Amino acid sequence: MINKPTSVWIDTDPGNDDMMAILLLAQNSLVNILGVSTVFGNTSLPKVTRNAKFILDLAKRNDIPLFAGAEQPLIRDQICADIHGESGLDGVTLVEEDLMVADKAQEAIIKALEDAEEPITILALGPLTNIAKLFTTRPDLISRVQRLVIMGGAITVPGNKNRVAEFNVFCDPEAAESVFNTIIPKTLIPLDPCTSVVLTDRDIASLPNRTVGTTLKRILKPYIENICIFEGVQGALMYDPIAAYYLLNPAAFTTVPMDVRVETSSKGLTYGMTVAERRIIAERVFNMDVVTEVDAKQFISAFLAAIKEMDKCDE
Ligand code: BDR
Ligand code: CA
Repeated sequence: MINKPTSVWIDTDPGNDDMMAILLLAQNSLVNILGVSTVFGNTSLPKVTRNAKFILDLAKRNDIPLFAGAEQPLIRDQICADIHGESGLDGVTLVEEDLMVADKAQEAIIKALEDAEEPITILALGPLTNIAKLFTTRPDLISRVQRLVIMGGAITVPGNKNRVAEFNVFCDPEAAESVFNTIIPKTLIPLDPCTSVVLTDRDIASLPNRTVGTTLKRILKPYIENICIFEGVQGALMYDPIAAYYLLNPAAFTTVPMDVRVETSSKGLTYGMTVAERRIIAERVFNMDVVTEVDAKQFISAFLAAIKEMDKCDE
């Protein structure tokens, strides 16, 4: 577990698992969330931004500034996810709010990086469009980033959007390729360690019937139904919360340095595929640390404990 404070910017497209990731970090006293930016992804930008506001309110963290980012991928046509439902957070009532000033996120992240006393960690939980634009426009800010932690890609396992591509990378392959090529310390949490980690019905039933626990029970019901249909897995997949947990307890993860690129030249079967150099060749150059394993037991118990702790305020 980390034992000193860390400053974090969260870029996200909520989404059920994005919601759980934000909740995991929101009340941790060692995590200073400087801001949240949204990006199209699991659903449209207006919807993910409304959902992010809902999550910050639920976590009693509406002191955290929220900014809408990219509305579209860099080049390709926009796609949406299947598993998060029409709203992105099906199962709860979401108040329609117009929070949409697209692309405000750029200025806000730039300001946060410029103002921070120490380099900050960026946690990227959606398509990498905002992050690609940021470092293309302001490469001088790379030194202000402690580490970029990315949920995305599939190294040795099949994709979850199609046979080879993981959803976040497939949403904007050109942005992902640009970010992967940016010389910055990065940790990638691909599908590989995530596909066997689920929150079970039993775990969910153990959550308190209070504000956060009840809300999670509501949103996880349709999420689990969709995961069963589209992924053939029983339980709630925890992609983004696993990436968030890396910030809290890197010791629970095994990482391997790799050189990973994204296929952007094909517009066919392999578009958006993450391609890692897995040969042992003489002159290896690595562009990121890739998570190959996570201690699922530690992660699930830390997640449940964080949610129960949040609901204690309701007692
Ligand atoms: C990623 O895709 C999205 O649907 C999830 O929120 C997660 O970030 C998993 O492939
Ligand atoms: Ca996400």
